[in-house]
Amino acid sequence: AEARKFFVGGNWKCNGSVQQVNDLVSMLNQSTLSTDTEVVVCPSQVYIQGVAEKLRKDVGVGAQDVWTQGNGAFTGETSADMLSDMGVGWAVVGHSERRGKGEPDAEVAAKAKYALDKGLKVIACCGEPLESREAGTTNEFVFPQIKAYADAFTKEDWKNVVIAYEPIWAIGTGLTATPEQAQDTHADIRKYLGEIAGAEVAEETRILYGGSATAATAGGLSAKEDIDGFLVGGASLKPEFADIVNCNG
Ligand code: G3P
Repeated sequence: AEARKFFVGGNWKCNGSVQQVNDLVSMLNQSTLSTDTEVVVCPSQVYIQGVAEKLRKDVGVGAQDVWTQGNGAFTGETSADMLSDMGVGWAVVGHSERRGKGEPDAEVAAKAKYALDKGLKVIACCGEPLESREAGTTNEFVFPQIKAYADAFTKEDWKNVVIAYEPIWAIGTGLTATPEQAQDTHADIRKYLGEIAGAEVAEETRILYGGSATAATAGGLSAKEDIDGFLVGGASLKPEFADIVNCNG
């Protein structure tokens, strides 16, 4: 994992108030964050501009989702054009909390590709539900999600993509995949990526773990060869986020 820069994203989800967001930004601005880790936080779209203005510049800002196309008559959507115009560097796509509303793999991949074309970097999510984990069909569920991304991305695009593996059963549940479970799936994803996108893409693309990651579990997970960082939900709203950023030292 040494060749791949450690990456920690904070997905704030639909949380915060003006006061809480300001407090979070101050906390981050005052934290010691390892320069060996790339850090990106993803506030609600409503707060994104304020965060982008006030946050230290060595921490990136991302949107939690992005529209599939450009500007137009798409009520309620936020385009990649707008995000890149505002200097937002990243967008999360394919989070299970969005896929669950009925977003097929191909649409997720298409929005990712559109965002990449507009100069955004992408946190591309994947992950299986509990039934698949229990039935031993995790790869059968996750690989088509990865395939859809690979079908949409060029080799060049992959330089601006990180994959977030988020087992749905571990999201917000306090139930974390064990380092072995996560490592196995990350290694499977990397191997599959090698088959469909080439050895270089597989070797260079960072694969993050997401799902109840905390400061207490981050060390054990990050010690695994194919775990290149985290996409953190709940714990990204707390001071321990800095400990997760620094867990790889
Ligand atoms: O995107 C991050 C995520 O879904 C994990 O959330 O709260 O389980 O860390 P959480």
